[in-house]
Formats: sequence, C-alpha cells, structure tokens
Amino acid sequence: MSPARVTADQNPLRDPRDKRLPRIAGPCSMVLFGVTGDLARKKLMPAIYDLANRGLLPPGFSLVGFARRDWADQDFGKIVYEAVKERARTPFREEVWRTLAEGIRFVPGSFDDDGAFDLLAETVAELDEQRGTGGNHAFYLSIPPGSFATVCQQLERSGLSTPQSGSWRRVVIEKPFGRDLASARELNSIVENVFPADCVFRIDHYLGKETVQNLLALRFANQMFEPVWNANYVDHVQITMAEDIGIGGRAGYYDGIGAARDVIQNHLLQLLALTAMEEPVSFDAQGLRLEKEKVLSAVRIPADLAAGTARGQYAAGWQGGEEVVGYLDEDGVADGSRTETYAAVRLDIDTRRWAGVPFYLRTGKRLGKRVTEIAVVFKQAPHLPFKSTATEELGQNAVVIRVQPDEGVTLRFGAKVPGAQMEVRDVTMDFGYGRSFTESSPEAYERLILDMLLGEPPLFPRHEEVELSWRILDPIERFWEKKGKPPEQYVSGGWGPDSADEMMRRDGREWRLP
Ligand code: BG6
Repeated sequence: MSPARVTADQNPLRDPRDKRLPRIAGPCSMVLFGVTGDLARKKLMPAIYDLANRGLLPPGFSLVGFARRDWADQDFGKIVYEAVKERARTPFREEVWRTLAEGIRFVPGSFDDDGAFDLLAETVAELDEQRGTGGNHAFYLSIPPGSFATVCQQLERSGLSTPQSGSWRRVVIEKPFGRDLASARELNSIVENVFPADCVFRIDHYLGKETVQNLLALRFANQMFEPVWNANYVDHVQITMAEDIGIGGRAGYYDGIGAARDVIQNHLLQLLALTAMEEPVSFDAQGLRLEKEKVLSAVRIPADLAAGTARGQYAAGWQGGEEVVGYLDEDGVADGSRTETYAAVRLDIDTRRWAGVPFYLRTGKRLGKRVTEIAVVFKQAPHLPFKSTATEELGQNAVVIRVQPDEGVTLRFGAKVPGAQMEVRDVTMDFGYGRSFTESSPEAYERLILDMLLGEPPLFPRHEEVELSWRILDPIERFWEKKGKPPEQYVSGGWGPDSADEMMRRDGREWRLP
C-alpha cells in the first residue's frame, strides 16, 4: 500500500465543526520503549488516544510496544486501553479506539536481545506494508538513561535508525539528560552518534504546556508588557514550582537526584529563559533556541552560594487532612539520605535588560499547594503623590503568569478604596483560560508528541541548552555536596525551609504566597 499523506478533509476522525486547519501528522508509527513505566501509562498512551480522538493522527498510525514481557499484541492493547480509559483527557469514542487498536503491536524482548530488535525491524516493515506508515518511525525512549546506549546501538545495528530516502527516523528522550555536565555530554554523544541532531527530540514537558507558550504570546504579541519588561521597571522575578505531593513510588529515580536536578535544571531554567530572553527573529526552532541559549549563557550564580541558595527535605506533617511521612521514611529512600526535596536559588542575568534584577527560583515537594507561576514584580513608583498613610497597604505591581493549575495571568496594581478618603490598596485583575476560551487546553504530551511526529522542533531543547543549564547547576550542586550538611527539614504542607525565607530577607524581599 502506498503511504498517502492524509489531509485535514480526508481524515475520517476529524470533527467537521472545526473550521481551523489542524496540523495532522503524516503516515508514521511510534515505537514505545518503557511501556510498563508510569509515564507511558499515565501520560503517553492517553496522549496518543487524545491526538487520535482529535483527528490529528493519520488513520494508519501504529503504536508498537517493546518490553521484556511475554505479551501478544492483544495484551499490550489491553494495557493501552486501560490507560486510555483511566486517563484520557477527551471522551472515549469506540470508533476512535477501534481504529487505533488495529495499529497496536507488541515486540517482546530485552534491550540486549539482537533477535528482538530484528523482530522489531520486521514489525515496522510490516506496518509500512499493511498500514502505510511510509517508513516513518519514532522511537520513544521512556526508559532510564542507563539503557539509552544499548537501545541506540541496537536501533543502529538492526538498521532501524537509518531511514530509506524520503522517510524519517526520530528518537525521543525524556529527562534526566544526565546528572551533571559531564554525564549529559556523554549521554548526548551516545544518542547523537546514532541519530543526527535534528532527529533527536528532548522532552521537557513544561514547554508543551499552553501557559508556558502563552508567555511568548503575552510578551511578544502585545505592546503593553515588553516596554516595562526590563531592569528600569522590574524589581525582581520569582519562579515557583510547588507541589503538594511527595515522591510517591519514585524513590529509585529521585533519591540521589533531588529537586534541583529534577526540575530546576530543566523546567525552571526553561521558564527563566522564556521570561528573560530577547524577542526571537522568528519562532522557528533556530530563532527560539538561539535566544534561550543567549540568555542562559548570561546567567550568573551567586558569589556567596551559602547566602544565595537554600535546600530542604520534607519532614512528616499533614497534607490535605491526611498525615504524611517525612522523606526519610518514604519507601526506597536510603537511610540518612541527603537528597533535597526543596531547592531555591537566586540567579542574576548579566545583560543590559536584566542588570541588577534577581531571578529567584524555588521548587519543592509537599508544599502548601500545587502551583507553578512566574511573578514579575515591579519597582515601587518613583514618587507617590499621596499622604504616606494613603499608600501604607500598597505593595509592588506584579504580572503573574499562572502556569498551573488555575491557568491564566494576574495583574496586581493599586486602586482607590471606595470612600471619602484617598486610600490605595492592592487589587488584582485576572485572565483565566477556563473563563476566556471554550476549548480546554491539550495536555503537554499531546502537543509534544504531535510536534515530534510532524518534525517541528521549536518546543524541544537542543543539547546546547541542556549543557548551559548544567553549567549553571553544577557549581551549586558541588557546593551543597562539599558543605556536607544534610538539607534543612521543613514541615509537610508548609512553604519550605526557613533558610529559603532567610535568603529572601537578606535581599530585603519575601516570597509570594501563591
Ligand atoms: C517531572 C518531575 O518532570 O515533573 C516530577 O520529574 C514532577 O518530580 C513533575 O512531579 C511535575 O510535573 P507537572 O506537569 O505535574 O507540574
């Protein structure tokens, strides 16, 4: 069967009421390594179904699972079905599921089994014949980085990494991209030895979030923000990623990694880059990555790392009305572990735009609530033509990009309190995604998987960004390690260790209560 490109009009799964021309992936398959993992079940399988349900996958789209399990295609199909039923964002439609299920295959085997990879090569070749996948295959490595080398070598040996002319092969890798600069480089050379750089898609799922992309719209599609988005007007920026959950069953991954490597190195530094970068010449991958890299290379860590960073570990406490254990008592955590579950750091950016404007980044597990936001906090007006008593309750103006869960933007400014007196107090003005738009936001993984299948790289960090982020984090990690002190305990359900508040107080500032 010849692999025909499916247009929006031909796609039987497309909602005919949708007048916008959707971006639909061409003929292809996705091979998933790590099908038994949490990410595959909770995010990837549901996202694939949601894409199919939205009519964004070609009818012949096929999903191949690879794992060390004695499964037939149907067994894997059942796993996908259950994941979809449990987690998909969009309603379950029998006809969509049936079409998707026809393209589900499973190849049993371990990563060092040549025969299994030969069978995988046969399977995808059959899909090209039977389902018109056109020789276009993506390999999604949802597996520990320790196995990347073996899988990449196997893909190369079995000929799977090499496309025939006119088709493509891509590899998708999930963070952690190493645990420091040296290991990130090593990992990269393993992957890029087999796949050319433009066929490597690194997932930082924060870049797939609507609100993160909205940051670009807010800054660059409007006239009113960019003129004040600089050191003349901005006092400081706070980027917060707070989670109310603990580490759950992830001790195997998390212990020894910690909060800074887990999310500051990637998600929070990406948010910093998008907040602070200059306007790109274009929003293609080259334009966007170039500006992010420029700003990341201008980041300076504090000269006094003891004063400019903080780390903590959650102790037992109460969360959402339930008693929860401390980090050290979580299953699988090493006795006396010094892994931090909270990290905060002050970063400066040595550019004309940001000279003297600190960016404070913080993240933690088991904090007061789940919230991710970027708060751009402005300087006080240079002169207030009111009696000092009139402005006692006036704080600093702020633009807060609410990344999640209540997606939107808040402006904070002073307004007159009604009455005969002149009294000014802070008020907020809110834009909420949920209130302004009827469509619900796609999950980050829907957007990223679709972009990857379309071969559109702007939302995927390239290796240079990963390296630059490790350059920022490595000295901080080394400092913490050298200090040899365990992270400060903080109570679950609170807002982190005292040292993080102290860090702000020293600068004459305080953390926002999100
Ligand atoms: C992941 C981290 O990258 O992001 C997790 O490894 C964290 O530790 C998760 O819980 C949070 O993602 P989200 O989309 O729920 O904010």
